[in-house]
Order: sequence, then structure tokens, then C-alpha cells
Amino acid sequence: MGFKEEINKRRTFGIVSHPDAGKTTLTEKLLLFGGAIQIAGAVKSNKIKRGATSDFMEIERQRGISVATSVMAFEYGGKKINILDTPGHKDFAEDTYRTLTAVDSVIVVIDVAKGVEEQTEKLVKVCKMRKTPIIVFINKLDREGKDGFDLLDEIETKLGLSVCPLSWPIGMGQRFQGVYNMFEKHLNLFSPHGKQSTEDLTRIEDLSDPMLDEKVGAAAAKELREETTMIKEIYPEFDREYYLEGMISPVFFGSAINNFGVKELLDCFVKIAPSPLPRETDERIVHPDEPDFSGFVFKIHANIDPKHRDRIAFLRICSGTFERNTNYQHIRLGRKLKFSNPTSFMAARKEVIDEAYPGDIVGLYDTGNFKIGDTLTEGEILEFKGIPSFSPEQFRFVNNADPMKSKQLEKGIKQLMDEGVAQLFIKEDNGRKIIGTVGALQFEVIQYRLKHEYGASCSYEPVRLHKACWVGFDSDQARKEFVSRRKKDLALDKDGQLVYLAETAWGLKTVQESHEGVQFFYTSEKKRPEAL
Ligand code: G4P
Repeated sequence: MGFKEEINKRRTFGIVSHPDAGKTTLTEKLLLFGGAIQIAGAVKSNKIKRGATSDFMEIERQRGISVATSVMAFEYGGKKINILDTPGHKDFAEDTYRTLTAVDSVIVVIDVAKGVEEQTEKLVKVCKMRKTPIIVFINKLDREGKDGFDLLDEIETKLGLSVCPLSWPIGMGQRFQGVYNMFEKHLNLFSPHGKQSTEDLTRIEDLSDPMLDEKVGAAAAKELREETTMIKEIYPEFDREYYLEGMISPVFFGSAINNFGVKELLDCFVKIAPSPLPRETDERIVHPDEPDFSGFVFKIHANIDPKHRDRIAFLRICSGTFERNTNYQHIRLGRKLKFSNPTSFMAARKEVIDEAYPGDIVGLYDTGNFKIGDTLTEGEILEFKGIPSFSPEQFRFVNNADPMKSKQLEKGIKQLMDEGVAQLFIKEDNGRKIIGTVGALQFEVIQYRLKHEYGASCSYEPVRLHKACWVGFDSDQARKEFVSRRKKDLALDKDGQLVYLAETAWGLKTVQESHEGVQFFYTSEKKRPEAL
């Protein structure tokens, strides 16, 4: 197979949802279709147990599992599909945001009864910043839930997505009969527990066909006709170009646990989802079909065995062919590195690979050379954009609790920050360190890992902070004035970038208003997204 065919074959995506909406179940069903796992439960039994946030063995177990399920690759319909796991448990971390920088599209799972929930909102905002194409799957139709139109309204208002339903449910809960697929023009009747067969599919080109009444009964048929007429009036027709630009999101309805509507979702996904997309660097746009290899690290995983300090860096290939035992330029370090055991994640097994193509994720054994966002190329100086740090939401001062181990603490904190476990800000006025995270669990994880992997102890102290904003200036004068007036609220991030620490939302607003030549950003990349 030629290089271009290899690229066109790849679909690299993530599934995002609020916990419990059904992401794990859906992932598992997709893997079953792809033959990547043989039995139901294989992914699920690995699932992070809920309510175990203070059980540290559990944290360790989770880390082990998340290496195994970080990337799941399989073949389906002639395509090579890479699912990137976006950890979505209660205390999800920035890791989740960053994984989204390595995908080309996403599927958002929404619980029909709960509608759009908080984490989904946050994750979709990140996707929208990058114009990532989004497909929505409304799950659990076997249960009573919200009205379909109300849900679509909610998706439009809360997520800001323009939707276009491609399937529509006939009843729900006890009365759930199935879905009409407007994309393929067939009726798919529901039978619980995944006993779906092709006989359940009936081709109905035109919904006035009396066969519909025979299949679902006159009342349900009437309702479906009315509702689909309304859909045609209210929602735009599906247009792949708009979807690819992130301007319209197709919506499917189904029940993951019953394996209902999942195949339709997957079939549509392989037809419409984008193959590896061009990616922006500070210098230029990199196209996947360029012959020279390039890629970036979006995730780093420490070995769960503290005796082995090696880590796995997850590299997303953006262009060219990646080859084993070949020297590549590590742009930040300014030197060549080569990898003798790069691994792929095909069919949930880790395998050493000889080559990989754009869209693929390769695991590289790392002894401390990588940080999140690092770029590898064949020599060209490039830096991929879109791997920013996001403003954390929880902050604490970190103190050394064992003065004899200050070196270990420094080293541990540095390495954990490189891994992207949390962010460190050093205050400009007194040099105190503040750790910022997206979820509160990360503080416990850091404390535990510092102790067990570095022999260092830390304690935390509360700090009243609302947001950390990166700042940019119109002029040197604006910078000077801001720095002198706001010194006590300034800090430096890991790259030495200036950050304004806002105590309250109101305070932030006032400071923004009183410094005209200063811009405030919610990501380190200094693009102004909507506030997270
Ligand atoms: P998550 O990864 O998004 O957190 O969700 P997960 O797949 O674990 O699903 C959360 C719960 O919802 C699970 O139940 C799962 O069985 C259930 N679920 C998933 N899809 C459907 C569906 O289509 N219909 C219904 N009725 N339930 C669904 P649980 O009781 O929390 O876990 P388990 O005991 O089933 O493992």
C-alpha cells in the first residue's frame, strides 16, 4: 500500500463524555466490531472504579490501566481506526484536554436522561477551539429520558453546536422500538442485548410507506412522520464539508449497552470522519502527505513500577513515515534521538513496530528526554501548536515537608510537571510555588507519587485563586506598568511565561478593564478561546 493510501486509511479520534454517560461501553462495542477484543467486558473490567478517589492503590491501578487503554487501534471497513482514550473520571485531569489535541475528530456521548453535563461542556469547548469535527451519540434510549427535540436544543445552547440528526428514535424506555436512520434511509428495530441482525433493518426510502405502520404500529409511525418532518424544517441537511469544518454535528441515537445504533454510528463514522488533518506549527502548516516525518508528544506516562524510572511518551505522527532505529531531531533539546523499540497499540496489544504513518500514535520509551508538546522531525525546526496548557481550576501552595529531601522534591515536581500531571507556577514576589490542577484528585496523586517514586514529602496550603491567565502586551510600556502594579499577583509558568493569578472572577474583570494594553489568555498558547 502506498504512503497516501496509508494516510487516507487512518481515522484517529477520541470519545468524550461526562462520567457514566456510556463512553466505556461504547468504546468496548466499537472494539468488538473491529475484532480488537473478543468478549464484552474486556475494557469494562479495567474500568476505573468509582468512589475510590482516596484509595492510592487504586490510583496506581488506574495509571497502569490507562497505559493499556490509552490508544486502542483496530481495522474496520478497510480503515485503520485509532481511538485515543480521554480519561473522563470524576477528577479528570488536563491530560484529557491534551489528548484532544492529538485527534482528528471526536464522538461525544450524551446520556438521554441527563442531557448535556458539565464535563462534556468543558471538553467540547476545547474541541471547538480547534474546530474538531464532532459526532454526537445520544445513549441509553432503552431508558426513559428527555424529549429528542429538547435534547437537541440543549446541545445547541449548552455546547454551542449546530446539530443535524441523522437518526431519530421511535419512543424510548419501555416504548423504545428503534431508530429511523435518515442517513441510510432504513428502519432499525430494537431488540435488547445486542441481538441485532440484518433482518432488523428495513429499507424505507419514503416514510409514507405503509410498511412503517406495519413495523412499528400506526401511532408510532404517525409520530415519527411528524417528527421527521419537523426535523427537515428545523435542522440543516447534513453536509460533510460543514461537518469537517466543525460547523455542523451529526447526531445519532442508540443504546451502547444493547449494542444498538453502534454499528450505524461506526459505519457513518468511517464514511464521514476525516483522515489525518494538516497541523499548524509556529512556522507553517504541516501536511500529512509531506515525505519528511514530523510528530509531537501529547502525553507522557510514568512507569508504574517506581524501580524503573522510564516512561512512555505518546507521539502523534503528523507527516511522513516514522521509522524504527532512525535518528530524529528533538527540536527542544536540539539533538538527535533514535528509538529501538517504538510500540504501537494495535488490538490492545503493545507491539514493537518498524514504521508508522500520519494519524498513528507511537509509544516511545523515554528516560527523561520528553516533555508534553515536544516536536520530533527529520531536521526542520518546527514546533507544533495546539498543545497548550489550560488554566487550571484548583490551586494550592506546595511546601517541602522534609527539608532533607529538597533535591528529590525539586526533581519529582519537575518530572511530574513534564508529564503534565499538573502545572507549576512560581510567584514573582516571593518565589513560592503554586500547583494548579484541573481536578482535585491530582493533588493526592502528586503527594503519593512524590513519596513513592522520589522519596520526597510535600504539604499543601490553600490559596485563594480563581484562574491563572497568561498575559500578552501591546508594548513594553504596558508590560512595565502591569508588572510593577501587579507584581504580587504574578507568577512564571514552567516555560518562564508570565501568568496573572486572579483571586476572583470579578477581580480579573476589573484588572482587565484597568489595563488596556494587556491581553489575558486562558491557555498558554495565547489564543483567546472562550473561558474554560
Ligand atoms: P463511562 O465510561 O462514560 O463512565 O460510562 P460506562 O460505559 O461505564 O457506563 C455507565 C453506566 O451506564 C454503566 O452501568 C453501563 O452499564 C450503563 N450503560 C451504558 N450504556 C447504556 C445503555 O445504553 N443503556 C443503559 N440502560 N445503561 C447503559 P453501571 O451500572 O454503572 O455499571 P455496570 O455495573 O453495568 O458495569
